Amino acid sequence: ASEKVYRASTTAPVNIAVVKYWGKRDAKLNLPTNSSLSVTLSQDDLRTLTTASTSASYPASEGDSLLLNGAPSDISGARTQACLRELRTRRAALEAADPSLPKLSTWPLRIVSENNFPTAAGLASSAAGFAALVRAIANLYELPASPSELSLIARQGSGSACRSLFGGYVAWRMGSEEDGSDSMADQVAMASHWPDMRALVLVVSAAKKGVSSTSGMQQTVATSGLFKERITNVVPQNMAIMEKAIAEKDFEKFAEVTMRDSNSFHATCADTYPPIFYMNDISRAAIRAVETINEKAGRTVAAYTFDAGPNAVIYYLEKDTEAVVGTFYHVLQGNAEIGGWKKAEIQGLKASI
Ligand code: PMV
Repeated sequence: ASEKVYRASTTAPVNIAVVKYWGKRDAKLNLPTNSSLSVTLSQDDLRTLTTASTSASYPASEGDSLLLNGAPSDISGARTQACLRELRTRRAALEAADPSLPKLSTWPLRIVSENNFPTAAGLASSAAGFAALVRAIANLYELPASPSELSLIARQGSGSACRSLFGGYVAWRMGSEEDGSDSMADQVAMASHWPDMRALVLVVSAAKKGVSSTSGMQQTVATSGLFKERITNVVPQNMAIMEKAIAEKDFEKFAEVTMRDSNSFHATCADTYPPIFYMNDISRAAIRAVETINEKAGRTVAAYTFDAGPNAVIYYLEKDTEAVVGTFYHVLQGNAEIGGWKKAEIQGLKASI
């Protein structure tokens, strides 16, 4: 029996925030300075697939390991270690309560993870990655944990990962407890509530981002005056309007808050000293393209948002596919040019919600 290999697999989706998480009030626990809200993209398009296994036959000397897209990956970082520790502690408690359970918590873990999208493309791969890692191990350990409880653990790996435990429209409530026990995600609405929502991911650059989200946040919290205004006045208002827009399926409001919040986040980055610029000339051309598309349509049919990198995510509704994706694809195919933006510089990925 000691040779038996226990195994569990799961997938987790990518999420793209429409009200951004930017700033930590506790860096060790990944506790945010503000609540945030995201849309989870369909797993058919963008996801991480993770298998976790353990066995008494795995030599203790090899320790835990992670193979990411076929290559050994470092898991010694404090955040990954925090996730593994939390999961082991919960499993050990089950084993202590029921001595007939195999002692999975004491054996090395082998984790194998694979993304179906470019890892370094700045597509929140850490969110899907940590969500899948936490759920795969929780399944392996047969932990009786709800998605919200798992979100507490995944949050410690990467803040935004806590939102990838749910589909559809997801809020991460910042919470107020010092130990982070109330800083977790919940589902605002299921994907089926607003099934015609779509996302177009424009990969402007697959190069790794210049300033990591962790150091970017730290610098922003420490040096930006605008940041204080953002977390006290801008974000709480954006959260309230966004939740109402989703409940009412009001795309114009959804789009306006999405674009305003992305702009506000990047403004705080530009307000740090020295300034941080995540968007580049092509990103700004994408913003102008969205403005042109909306002007031509005579209403808001597309909304842009940017994370800590130059890639754009464009939200739109299925019925406006021609106006939005059609226009971008003319550019992608080299038949048109917007703001000096040429085909060779971008790659488009369509996703459902
Ligand atoms: O989860 P992190 O530490 O990679 O931070 C993500 C930050 C943003 O992507 C810029 C915003 C967000 O809410 O996802």
